[in-house]
Amino acid sequence: MRAVSVQARARRSGVVEDAAQAFGSWQGERRVGATGVVTCFSFGPIKNLTCGLGGAIVPRTPLEADICRRLRGLGIVESAAQRAEVTTYTIDGFGMRVQMSPLNAAVGLVQLVHFAEAETRRRALWRAYAAALDGIDGVSLVDADVDRTVPALCAVRVLDGRRDRVFHTLLERGIGVGVHYPPNHTQPAFAAWHRPLPVTEHLGGQIMTLPFHQHLTEAAAEHITGELRAALAAETDR
Ligand SMILES: Cc1ncc(COP(=O)(O)O)c(C=O)c1O
Repeated sequence: MRAVSVQARARRSGVVEDAAQAFGSWQGERRVGATGVVTCFSFGPIKNLTCGLGGAIVPRTPLEADICRRLRGLGIVESAAQRAEVTTYTIDGFGMRVQMSPLNAAVGLVQLVHFAEAETRRRALWRAYAAALDGIDGVSLVDADVDRTVPALCAVRVLDGRRDRVFHTLLERGIGVGVHYPPNHTQPAFAAWHRPLPVTEHLGGQIMTLPFHQHLTEAAAEHITGELRAALAAETDR
């Protein structure tokens, strides 16, 4: 982020930080979201803090907050409370209908009360995976500094071109693995701007995420890594 901020300043641009997976993590002496850039969190179903579906923006100034509120609510200037007391309202620019529903917000507020427990559990689970994966040939953990970050995922690299087959074997064994994420620049939507990014493409063909959430037990992590070991061994024997 420091390097990006220097570049952005030189170009007189602002920085919008995609902290979708980083709720609770630290950046230097501060938690992500308190470091002075516009920060966006996701509270989707698999994130560190969830409200079902939704997110939050941390603006830097009251003006930015005001702009965000207008953008999320069809460009309407007045708040819902203000509108309740008048017979009209003002739309003075572009807006979308992307506000969080009060039901989702209520779920998020309750989850927030339990966040300290969630972050402790996520760190412990990630460490359990790291220990269980140690020494398994053909797979390497994508490292994370779990002293300073709250892990949102547990990602591994499956080496030697075996990712897709191992992925399907695990799915057949009832293990909910995933891929977060296929490289964006290979998506048809970005074809007009495509250029080769060989390292990203190489890693994009290796990454696989293991089931990961704060209610998963260390015993489950052991079972999953055992199945991974078996799937890799079956591939080696082919
Ligand atoms: C890095 C990153 N950015 C953005 C998003 C999008 O978040 P949302 O689905 O809440 O819009 C995600 C969620 O999966 C993410 O992991």
